[in-house]
Amino acid sequence: MQKTVSPARAIEGVITLPGDKSISHRYAMLGAIAEGTTAISNYSTGADCQSTLGAVAALGAGIERADGVIKIHGGELRAAKGDIDAGNSGSTIRMLSGILAAQRFDSRIGGDESLSRRPMQRILTPLREMGASIEAREGKFPPLTIHGRALEAIDYTLPVASAQVKSCILLAGLFARGDTVVREPVRTRDHTEIALKEFGAEIETNARVITLQGGAKLEGREVFVPGDLSSAAFFLAAAMLVPGANLLIHGVGLNPTRSALLDFLAGMGAQIKVVDVQQTSGELVGDLRVRHSKISGGVIEGAMSAALIDEIPALAVLGAASENGLTVRDAAELRVKETDRIATLEKNFRRMGIAIETTADGLHLPGKQQFHAARIDPEGDHRIAMAFSIAALAADGECVIEGAEAADVSFPEFFATLHQIAG
Ligand code: S3P
Repeated sequence: MQKTVSPARAIEGVITLPGDKSISHRYAMLGAIAEGTTAISNYSTGADCQSTLGAVAALGAGIERADGVIKIHGGELRAAKGDIDAGNSGSTIRMLSGILAAQRFDSRIGGDESLSRRPMQRILTPLREMGASIEAREGKFPPLTIHGRALEAIDYTLPVASAQVKSCILLAGLFARGDTVVREPVRTRDHTEIALKEFGAEIETNARVITLQGGAKLEGREVFVPGDLSSAAFFLAAAMLVPGANLLIHGVGLNPTRSALLDFLAGMGAQIKVVDVQQTSGELVGDLRVRHSKISGGVIEGAMSAALIDEIPALAVLGAASENGLTVRDAAELRVKETDRIATLEKNFRRMGIAIETTADGLHLPGKQQFHAARIDPEGDHRIAMAFSIAALAADGECVIEGAEAADVSFPEFFATLHQIAG
């Protein structure tokens, strides 16, 4: 499917976004293993989170959908009849593998072509230390064949900053004998820790050290998923770019381990106001008012690179249009996302006539650049499709986004929402 995006003369209105992708995955997985019923409001409509629902349904969890609420009837899982399909979703395969490794049955889990190229060594190492038996294609890629067995708790220092790996170990740790300890080099999103507490697990965090008691009995809950801040990033960028813009984004997740985005944008000169902040199911949620802003530019490096990893495509678009440009370092993880995002950013920026230099772990975009009309090829990557749709709003002519359905992975309503605010 192709989408044509025209230059925007205005950005205005009030929008809401689909539920946070990271939080939705966690509630679905915890709902499936918790006793009783979990009712999830505002569950992500993205294909990735539907993959997680499909996976837990295949493992015996009962799923009901009514009035925008997903009900999961959880408890003991049973073997899936065939392979479990994680689709395009790294979160699904990496986090669910922690649960599968501890079951009394065997599983095989894989996904699409992009997922089949993503590294799994990062979960295999700690899970094997816990006693898991897992085989991977060529030793490191999906599909994974997981022979379920009893696990032992471990004390593990993450070599890569990764919330997915941390979560995988904690989910395995729920079923393990003893206390599981995960030590993080830099703090990553803590939705799993918050959700585990909500569902009744004994878990504590002290200065980047997380300790979870094994053997907890989880209980089903009523939970609410805030809007996805990583999806909001595209609309924050759109409003910052387009002269006269004034946009209200309603009900966005503001968990402090995710909101580095807002701090970075403020440092770039963004006019963003956070209003009406509340707490729901242990997560912060609030409204964001954003206006057209003079964008200065900046540097993303060190711990910031991990904290902003999903938003770098949107920030790169702002960087090219900024006064002083954007430099990204220490972001080698971009190379192993849904696509090699350093390469897909470079290729599509060049198509738009934008100068960009790339390195093994980052990129540099000089500032004050004009986006030129172009055909964009996101190569199936949702965040690349959405980022370049935002660049198109500030281009000198119509842009065509090829394979625009890629956005469905996290945000099926993306183009409708863009149309709503940009006309
Ligand atoms: C996620 C963690 C991040 C992020 C991904 C979602 C999560 O990945 O990029 O989109 O839900 O835990 P890593 O944990 O691999 O850094």
